[in-house]
Amino acid sequence: MIEPHITKSLVLLGMMGVGKTTLGRYLSQGFRLPFIDADQEIERVSLHKITELFEKYGEKEFRNVEKRVVQRLAQLPPHIIALGGGAFINEDTRNILLKKTITIWVDVPFQTIFTRVSRNTTRPLLKTKDPKATLLQLIEERKPYYSQAHIHFINDYETKRATINAFKQQLSAYLKNNPC
Ligand code: S3P
Repeated sequence: MIEPHITKSLVLLGMMGVGKTTLGRYLSQGFRLPFIDADQEIERVSLHKITELFEKYGEKEFRNVEKRVVQRLAQLPPHIIALGGGAFINEDTRNILLKKTITIWVDVPFQTIFTRVSRNTTRPLLKTKDPKATLLQLIEERKPYYSQAHIHFINDYETKRATINAFKQQLSAYLKNNPC
């Protein structure tokens, strides 16, 4: 396989539970590029867990910190970057990412997302009476933004190797039509 030549960061975005962090780690190995998880970076700079940020300061303040962190990450030399599910909704952040990086909407079927997010309680946005309805609503609201990403990757391969190979093929096809 021809290895795609990477000159920009690869930014993974999409709903919680689609496997952005795991995919990011795989791609970090596959492309030999450093990996950064934006939520971990937010926790590092704010000295708070994401759940604490939401509880203590509210979603608005969390989004402010997220915006600052992600816009800084967008300026780095090529990395693999995984975003939290809401980061790409901010217009300024989205425009910077679309210009400076290659953005990838990572997607899996709804049932897979729901099963995964139901296994843990670390998602503040899903602490509602009906998490399933909340999740469905968030997906509908966010699709128009996610679909602006350069690449739409369906993350449903059995193994790490198959995932990396499928991703490389899709990226190569994208770069052939959109050299950067
Ligand atoms: C959020 C997703 C979370 C985290 C925060 C808000 C969202 O990240 O940033 O809880 O708005 O969808 P993951 O997508 O990594 O779960």
